[in-house]
Formats: sequence, C-alpha cells, structure tokens
Amino acid sequence: MKDKDIWEQVFSNIPMEWKEVSPTDSMLFCLDYFQKHNVESVLDLGCGVGIWSVFLAKNGISVKGVDFSKNAIEYAKNWAKEEKVRALFDYSDLVNHSFKKESFDGVVASKILDNISRFKLSEVSQQIESNLNDGGILFCVFNPYLNETDREKLMKSDNPTKGITHTVYKDEELEKIFPELNLLEFRIFEHGFRGLIWQKEENTAANNV
Ligand SMILES: C[S@@+](CC[C@H](N)C(=O)[O-])C[C@H]1O[C@@H](n2cnc3c(N)ncnc32)[C@H](O)[C@@H]1O
Repeated sequence: MKDKDIWEQVFSNIPMEWKEVSPTDSMLFCLDYFQKHNVESVLDLGCGVGIWSVFLAKNGISVKGVDFSKNAIEYAKNWAKEEKVRALFDYSDLVNHSFKKESFDGVVASKILDNISRFKLSEVSQQIESNLNDGGILFCVFNPYLNETDREKLMKSDNPTKGITHTVYKDEELEKIFPELNLLEFRIFEHGFRGLIWQKEENTAANNV
C-alpha cells in the first residue's frame, strides 16, 4: 500500500477526543518561540487533522496547513470552523500545494520530514526555504533516533502506520538538513522527539539600500 493510502486509512475514523488532548511540550515551546520572534503567519506542513494548526491559530497566529490526506484535511477544516480561528487548509502533497508561492514568518514541520524519502526531502527543503520570510523561523520535530534493533521491532510491530516511509536520521545529519538556514536550537522533547529550530538570514543588504 502507498503511504498516502495508509494515512488515509489512519484518518478514516478520527476519535473526537483528539480535539481535547492538551498541547505537548514541543507545541508549547514552539508557540513561545514564535511569540518571542513576532511570528504572525505560519505554514504547517503535513498538518494532519490540524492539532498544531488549530492550537497556533487559537493563540492568534494566522495558519495555513497542508496534508495529502483528504480525511485529515476535512477534519482540520471543520475543527477550525468550530473554533472560529484563522486557519486555511489545502489537500495536497508537500511540494505542489496552493500556498507554495506564499511566504510566512514561520513554518512548522512536525513528525513529517522523516516520513518522506531522503530524495524527496531535498525537494521539500528548497520549497520550505522559499516559503520563509527573511528572518523567518522553521520549527521541525523528528522522530527519536532508532538503532537497528529498534527499527526491526518497529517493522514487525502491528501499529496503524505500519509500512509507511521511515527515514532514520542521526542527530548530526539532522543538523545539516537545511544548509541555507541558521540552526538556533536542538532539543529533545516528549517521548524523545527531536526538535530543531532554524532561522532564515535577515536580508541586511536589502535593508541597507
Ligand atoms: C505523523 S503525522 C504528523 C501530523 C502533525 N504534523 C502532528 O505532528 O500532529 C504525518 C502527517 O504527514 C502527512 N504526510 C505524509 N507524507 C506527506 C506528503 N508527501 N505530503 C503531504 N502530507 C504528507 C500524513 O498524512 C500525516 O498527516
């Protein structure tokens, strides 16, 4: 089965309780970071059912979310409507989405960039860089590092996302994924998820003209 079909199945019956779950440490840290950097607009890549999008929008940030699962995007749209928050969603792949020509103060990529291949990541990372305003912040969350034994266990385990792409990155590799951006932080969040925060250079030359 293709990744898209697996995700579509995962999101075919979304529990209502997902809306009630408290924000995680990584989400709270991200909000605080965005607020300190005056981030007013955010692109949420691989937004799923909109957990991050709705949370950020409820805190006053204007959000656009992208995901290739139709079920997830429908859920996110309805949720944002119920909450009466500024969040728009597009059902699309990470690259050719309808917000691709727009730029944002912040981009969130939570638990998504290791669900695509290394090859695809190089295309997506260029797209992300062009989506960021000068001085903009990129907030990424990656899965914990898995050694060979953990990987085998995961492959054998019976979980709903069994079979999807899992690219495993060492910490040193993650640090080099966006060579054009400045890495500001690398921290470990809940359950060992790895959070990396980058900033796009301010265009000082243009400011000096
Ligand atoms: C682990 S979930 C993370 C959801 C959300 N970002 C979060 O942290 O709660 C990964 C999401 O990425 C989406 N996804 C995976 N590959 C994608 C692709 N190539 N284009 C768009 N969305 C993708 C899946 O549909 C799923 O919603």
